[in-house]
Amino acid sequence: MLTGEKIIDEKRQGEAIIVNTPITAKRKLYLESYGCQMNFSDSEIVASILAKEGFESTRDYFSSDLILLNTCSIREKAELTVRNRLRSFNELKKKNPNLLIGVLGCMAERMKESLLEQEKLVDLVVGPDAYRDLPSLIQKVEGGQKSVNVLLSREETYADISPVRLGDNGVSAFISIMRGCDNMCSFCVVPFTRGRERSRNPLSIVAEAKDLVNKGYKEVTLLGQNVDSYRWNISKKGDIQDATIPTTNFAQLLELVAEVSPELRIRFSTSHPKDMTDDVIRSMAKHKNICNYIHLPVQSGNSDVLKRMNRGYTREWYMDRIKSIRNIIPDCAISTDIITGFCDETDFEHQETLSLMQWAEFDYAYMFFYSERPKTLAQRKYEDNVPLITKKQRLQDVIKIQQKNSLSCNQKSIGKTYEVLIEGFSKKSKEMLCGRTTKNAMVVFPKKDLQPGQYVNVLIESCTVGTLIGKVID
Ligand code: 5AD
Ligand code: SF4
Repeated sequence: MLTGEKIIDEKRQGEAIIVNTPITAKRKLYLESYGCQMNFSDSEIVASILAKEGFESTRDYFSSDLILLNTCSIREKAELTVRNRLRSFNELKKKNPNLLIGVLGCMAERMKESLLEQEKLVDLVVGPDAYRDLPSLIQKVEGGQKSVNVLLSREETYADISPVRLGDNGVSAFISIMRGCDNMCSFCVVPFTRGRERSRNPLSIVAEAKDLVNKGYKEVTLLGQNVDSYRWNISKKGDIQDATIPTTNFAQLLELVAEVSPELRIRFSTSHPKDMTDDVIRSMAKHKNICNYIHLPVQSGNSDVLKRMNRGYTREWYMDRIKSIRNIIPDCAISTDIITGFCDETDFEHQETLSLMQWAEFDYAYMFFYSERPKTLAQRKYEDNVPLITKKQRLQDVIKIQQKNSLSCNQKSIGKTYEVLIEGFSKKSKEMLCGRTTKNAMVVFPKKDLQPGQYVNVLIESCTVGTLIGKVID
């Protein structure tokens, strides 16, 4: 699921990032990323490709020669934000006519030439599978031509490109394990913008994890739109395609990465309820360094809505998956995604989402109201007929229950001790550090002489809805 997957913290949206480049670099690049973790991970690939071309990065877009926005199309609002940003960057062209502006990612793929031709907002449009072509596309623009490459690929995984780690705390990093999505959830634009699903060679994934360990990293998050359908050299039915090379499914991949180092924490996103097997949960249970946290988007608690969403499971199936997780890993955190006001959603169907939330007691949820997206199955097949005011009211209902659930999950941690991987200073005070438990809960505690990247045991003493507060014990 998503980009269909966990959306990056709102605060990180539009974050500017710094690229390490050779000292000889002359041109300056300003790169901003929006949307999901996959987009942030892709920006690291783009940064790597352009660093080789001598682009020096800057956080100051006023002095840049090239501005790139890695964009998201998942909801209309995400696209509006990017459009506004592009308009303001276009103002800079009045002072600096040589400035080039490019759009990457899902919006590039969705809008194609129209961003160039009708809206005249950009010089360069590059889809998610065309980043290797960036150097020659930039040359083309510099030669006075507009350039576009939005070809989607069935093979591209950028497996050989070593990402430049951006927005970097030196502790945790993303590893893309697959690209694209074959699911066709009816509300979702991702299959159109990111193309067909393909998995990356497991050996290159393990090599990347080893390299990160050697560089001192302590946590990796394996990324895919639907990690449970990761497969290397095995068909969806389980047939082996080429007997001479190793086969790997997601449960096996998790174990391969977990075995890289006991000091390396493994996270992953996003799981799909229709595909998540008990094998995956057992692999998690078997390895202490695979974190006890699963992001399992439900979208709706009503089976008829799920059918219209083309999700491939029912309310009961989803509940069975949750029971299985809790049975195999009793203390596993579970988060979800929820959409309110999908086409034809009745009040009863909405109530079913609320009752499912009450039953599941999710630790965390990403909650949205439905935003119709062009060309999707839902747009073609159903009417977007729930009034905006109702969508928003239902979203408020969902948020209210989640706030209660998050608080009670956090309260249950008071008095317990958790191993925490230190990420850096807390947002509010330089006297405090923050880090996460295996369950992905954020913990804040006094700094003492501790450093990011260290594991410490923290006794939880109090909490808010979003944070645990505690002290380090020896
Ligand atoms: N409208 C609202 N939310 C959406 N999502 C995906 N498409 C839409 C849409 N058209 C949500 C889903 C997904 C998350 C990443 O974004 O909940 O899991
Ligand atoms: Fe996720 Fe479904 Fe979209 Fe694929 S189609 S990215 S599984 S929401």
